[in-house]
Amino acid sequence: MIRRADYAPPAFLIDSVALEFDLAPERTAVRNTMRVRRNPDAAAAPALALMGEQLEFVRASIDGRVHADVRVNENELTIDNIPDSFELTIESLCNPAANTTLSGLYVSSGNFFTQCEAEGFRRITYFLDRPDVMATYTVTLRADKSAYPVLLSNGNLVEQGDLPDGRHFAKWEDPFKKPSYLFALVAGKLVVLEERITAGSGKEKLLQVWVEPQDLDKTRHAMDSLIHSIRWDERRFGLELDLDRFMIVAVSDFNMGAMENKGLNIFNTKYVLANPETATDTDFSNIEAVVGHEYFHNWTGNRVTCRDWFQLSLKEGLTVFRDQEFSADMAAGDTPGAASDAARATKRIEDVRVLRQMQFAEDAGPMAHPVRPESYVEINNFYTMTVYEKGSEVVRMYQTLFGRDGFRRGMDLYFQRHDGQAVTCDDFRHAMADANGRDLAQFERWYSQAGTPRVGVRTSYDAAAKRYTMTLTQGYGEASEAARATQQGPLLIPVSVGLIGAKGADLPLRLDGEKEPQGTTRVLELTGREQSFTFVDVAEEPLPSLLRNFSAPVIVEYDYTNPQLAFLLANDSDPFNRWEAGQRLATRELLALAGRAAKGEALSLDDEVVAAFARVLDDETLSPAFRELALMLPSESYLAEQMSVSDPAAVHAARVFVSGRLAAGLRQKWLAAYEANRTPGGYRPTPEDAGKRGLKNLALAYLSQFDDPADAVRLARAQYDSADNMTDRSAALSALLMAGASAKGDATAADAALEDFYRRFENEPLVIDKWFALQATQRGGPNRNVIDIVRRLMQHPAFTLKNPNRARSLIFSFCSGNPAQFHAADGSGYAFWAQQVIALDALNPQVAARLARGLELWRRFTPDLREKMHEALTDVASKVKSRDVREIVEKALA
Ligand code: TRP
Ligand code: ZN
Repeated sequence: MIRRADYAPPAFLIDSVALEFDLAPERTAVRNTMRVRRNPDAAAAPALALMGEQLEFVRASIDGRVHADVRVNENELTIDNIPDSFELTIESLCNPAANTTLSGLYVSSGNFFTQCEAEGFRRITYFLDRPDVMATYTVTLRADKSAYPVLLSNGNLVEQGDLPDGRHFAKWEDPFKKPSYLFALVAGKLVVLEERITAGSGKEKLLQVWVEPQDLDKTRHAMDSLIHSIRWDERRFGLELDLDRFMIVAVSDFNMGAMENKGLNIFNTKYVLANPETATDTDFSNIEAVVGHEYFHNWTGNRVTCRDWFQLSLKEGLTVFRDQEFSADMAAGDTPGAASDAARATKRIEDVRVLRQMQFAEDAGPMAHPVRPESYVEINNFYTMTVYEKGSEVVRMYQTLFGRDGFRRGMDLYFQRHDGQAVTCDDFRHAMADANGRDLAQFERWYSQAGTPRVGVRTSYDAAAKRYTMTLTQGYGEASEAARATQQGPLLIPVSVGLIGAKGADLPLRLDGEKEPQGTTRVLELTGREQSFTFVDVAEEPLPSLLRNFSAPVIVEYDYTNPQLAFLLANDSDPFNRWEAGQRLATRELLALAGRAAKGEALSLDDEVVAAFARVLDDETLSPAFRELALMLPSESYLAEQMSVSDPAAVHAARVFVSGRLAAGLRQKWLAAYEANRTPGGYRPTPEDAGKRGLKNLALAYLSQFDDPADAVRLARAQYDSADNMTDRSAALSALLMAGASAKGDATAADAALEDFYRRFENEPLVIDKWFALQATQRGGPNRNVIDIVRRLMQHPAFTLKNPNRARSLIFSFCSGNPAQFHAADGSGYAFWAQQVIALDALNPQVAARLARGLELWRRFTPDLREKMHEALTDVASKVKSRDVREIVEKALA
């Protein structure tokens, strides 16, 4: 167990690194020459201990002479008898072809790639593989020229040429100091889309997107996204690209989304490759977001990096915040106004949905940890929703408190103080505090306390005095044990509020003590456990609009009535809270119905709820994208998590029932919405067109949930056959699958479309991933047992556990994207899960550990399920070997 409290600066520093690679799949030789000196700010150490894993040590030399005082074990190389400052050369061998972990140097489709974050560099060479050791790198790559014509590394290409025996070399120099986790190399048969742009300062920059030859026709969107990212960071934060050349490389075997290696970002193909035929609107916007995310890391992560891995959110939370703001600005376009506000809100809603669905669940289980964790066994397990998404919310709160300008002042001061350094979350908070003249000591608790805070609200109106008082309380409710252990006291919570009059308009807001009203939305700063805020001059009893734009990552507890929620859904000027009102309404009904379903009671739905949703669908003043989000029901896993005892079957029954009622009750409206939101003409991935397709395809999805889905089948078949883009084609396929699962439906249309889809896209791995995922997440039926389908698909020639995207498309999609089937009463889903965790553990511990998290909330389920989940967890715990998976299952069982 590694603890934050044990941090000590490194005993030695490495100022420069010269790496030479002789690349060969089974036997790559690495020669690493480092300038090493004792760290004046650290306690003296007798020996130099370098990290190394899966390496074959050859020899070490000091100042050019072979050094014999060396001890090697499985994860360390210790060098005794060393001077205070010296040149150290280490030679070692590794086997990239045998590396299935995708960490370190590995082979994918015959090409070489590296992945070093967090601790992969030590699988390439012996090193002080920790982020507070920063060095300049010179990298020489040598390889067979015909097999590996392209040789890339960080920084600038300074030399290249031919060598004897059909080999060639390239030499790269990165002028910026960096920690080892930002090192990268790529070698192989790749082609490039390139473009030159002029940066704000007038300097010319070369931008490149490298892919395998068959994918060159899918690179334009990534390049556009990169250019937009560069422009945005110049405009919004005054940050310019600091290298002459910036490269993106796509690889199909990759553990996560992408990696921000200095000047050489390496991406999962899923977040680079797109054209209308193969990528959906969601893919297009994910690519824009991830390209932005990695590019923004160049300043927030690379120029200023983390002192240690406990500070991970320093770069990740901040960079997620930056990519969210970038995507929002891109969606909003250049003209301010109601339409662009709504577009920003749509992005905000999507981000909050992810946070609440995934991060809140994480915070409620055994893996709950603060944004800045206190300890870990395997750091790869802490690239979490909490560090990324809650971390982003914490950064957003500075902006909510200080405004965009104040936030910018804090960022400027942060770079002024820390450019070129490895720093902590405290350093960032202090920059924000100092730039804005504020004491943010209490705010530190957002970094150190786990669990989701609950803000309780009580209101009272004194009609005679025209005073309206809001009393806010804070606490953590029944937090998980892991969360409770971290809690020390109240947080500083920015609570953005508005007051709405009977006619639906915002009331002017004047707090007690103020001379004049100031706007119609105010940020209240809740710092105590209980605090009252009084508004004066309130002419009528208002309805409160609470936590506008989701101003803090908390749960708001306020007892709205159904009519009040319907009123907010129709009137709130804050688009986020309009959506929120609809979600509260739907969640409340769905949970009540799930309770009835669990007891085998008859289900019925309040007509008022159907009417409220009908008004949204009819409201032409709302964008299609917003209406789509507002009409989407909360997911089954989110609903199950809201129950005191999770009952996936009951939730499923309730959600199927409500979907069916909304389908039937609004049938004519869905048909009309389907027609009204067609997007004739060529495909464009713009927010407007994507919004229309989204609403049209939601209509199709509802229509496919009728008892008699004939309309849906007719529309979906026509849409499938005539689609000129993947959004419409995959939505049509999904609707056919849904229709096939209904009582009167039959699956022939779905089966035919599935077969056609496979043949059409056989040579497009990312589309075949969709083909697997659609089948894994389909609704089951009496004649469609999804676990059997999944097990059969595991035997499909196109399936392989070794490719993480493929494993995710089938296994993860089933285990986390199909709760009703996964939690089958007979435990078949859990047995399947255990089998796959164990199989993956031997190949790729990082991916296995992600899957292993699928059962961590087991204690919250109904007794029968709980027992079967416990059995599966115990089985896994007894069989897995990796530190990654062991940490997860041991915490789950503790
Ligand atoms: N730093 C990367 C990002 O968020 C993510 C990352 C961490 C990663 N470890 C990884 C990516 C391992 C791939 C593999 O942008
Ligand atoms: Zn990141």
